[in-house]
Amino acid sequence: MAGKRVAVYPGSFDPITYGHVDIVDRSLALVDRLIVAVASNPSKKGIFSVPERIDMIRTALQDRKGVEIASFEGLLVHFCRERKADVIIRGLRALSDFEFEFQMAMMNKRMYPRGETVFMMTGSQYFYLSSSVIKEVVQFGGTVEGLVPPVVLERLEERFGRARFGVGTPPSPASPRPAPAARRRR
Ligand code: PNS
Repeated sequence: MAGKRVAVYPGSFDPITYGHVDIVDRSLALVDRLIVAVASNPSKKGIFSVPERIDMIRTALQDRKGVEIASFEGLLVHFCRERKADVIIRGLRALSDFEFEFQMAMMNKRMYPRGETVFMMTGSQYFYLSSSVIKEVVQFGGTVEGLVPPVVLERLEERFGRARFGVGTPPSPASPRPAPAARRRR
């Protein structure tokens, strides 16, 4: 892999959204190989296990060339050093992301001076999107169709049941709530 530019795109990806996919696609135009790295943090329990997240990412990105999917424990910079990656990709949405991202980039630079964090502005259509918003909407019966890859939609439905409210059809506060879908299991 000598001379090739390797980048790591780290994150929780719980689950992967089209916002993440957009960052992957744009990163691939800049680097030779992109490692999508799922952080495995035992103290931070997600909705999906790390293997489940990896499985969804693998399906969602199956057509992309130059992408590797991996997981890591501990410090991101150790993983980057191990993989000889000197670029760290992070997506940046609104101002609220900035403080945390700035702090992380500075600490990572201090520990791994060879590494450069590259921020990519999230695509405008995904500016409001986050895995947390996806999980919240789905848990309360809203649809996230068009915001996550089909495989993620499937897994979310398996876990939380089918969406009860479609796009543009929020329930009126006065109307009775429909019964939860039969497949719902929590
Ligand atoms: O998708 P997220 O949750 O915003 O990703 C954050 C992540 C996983 C990239 C960050 O928490 C991280 O790098 N964790 C690994 C531990 C680490 O290196 N922490 C020090 C950062 S200064």
